[in-house]
Amino acid sequence: MLKGRNLVDPEDFTLEELESIFKLTQEIIENEEDFSDICHGKILATLFYEPSTRTRFSFEAAMLRLGGQVIGFSEPGSSSVAKGESLADTLRTVGAYADIIAMRHPNEGAPIHGVEYCPVPLINAGDGGHQHPTQTLTDLFTILDAHKRLNNLTIGCCGDLKFGRTVHSLLKAMSRYENVDFVLISPHELQIPDYLMDELKRKNIKVQEEERLENVIDKLDVLYMTRVQKERFFNEADYVRLKDSYILDLEKLKDAKENLAILHPLPRVNEIKIEVDDDKRAWYFRQVKNGMYVRMGLIAKLLGVR
Ligand code: NCD
Repeated sequence: MLKGRNLVDPEDFTLEELESIFKLTQEIIENEEDFSDICHGKILATLFYEPSTRTRFSFEAAMLRLGGQVIGFSEPGSSSVAKGESLADTLRTVGAYADIIAMRHPNEGAPIHGVEYCPVPLINAGDGGHQHPTQTLTDLFTILDAHKRLNNLTIGCCGDLKFGRTVHSLLKAMSRYENVDFVLISPHELQIPDYLMDELKRKNIKVQEEERLENVIDKLDVLYMTRVQKERFFNEADYVRLKDSYILDLEKLKDAKENLAILHPLPRVNEIKIEVDDDKRAWYFRQVKNGMYVRMGLIAKLLGVR
């Protein structure tokens, strides 16, 4: 039963619960009109303490397409946060007006703390460099869309694996499926955090670390490209040195599998050349659309309207 639950961490839901969200998402895609009023009278609040385009708009579009309404802020400076209100008080207050809240916050762990005070379901829409579970729902649904399975896959994650929260959540989520191997492609300085590597080792997951994409691209079923997370660097010089470490182009794709699925949470900066967009292996714009549908499925489940 997902009604009334929160989503803070990608492992908050069982595999069966995830499957039920994906099943509903597929039904919504196939028969959107049947769902256009199921959230009538319900309100979603989006509290975004950090910039966003896709995540916030996709939550809002999802709620509007379900017939619900939306309130919120995209700039904490325009709310009482600027007067020094605590997160707990903001959530208590907004939870008195809204039926469900999606929150993005720069502090890692803010939503874990937030659920203690939030009277309605709270969805973590990204907490600092930590986790981003609804992007993961999007990613898993897109992998299913491309490969029709979530097991027996070799998944390459490339770019900023240190600060990229979408990668952290994806690794946690995909390590729960059988026979999934990871190839982690990054400069030494941007490797995944130790806590995550320890977790993967504890679970006996096969992980290969590699600096050159060309050395491993031929064995991948999924290539998850990421942006170097400029806003999380402590110094500009390091960012400038590392920002163009990987640029995927058609030349690099020469050795890739015919059915490779290239994903990217977006926004892209330089890491995928525009020439790749028309390749049938590019799934990232379909992934954007899937992100809205999967959030429709999630909202419907947490509100208990389906
Ligand atoms: C990602 C994020 O915010 O972590 N974007 C998104 O939600 N689609 C990735 C990023 O900002 O690089």
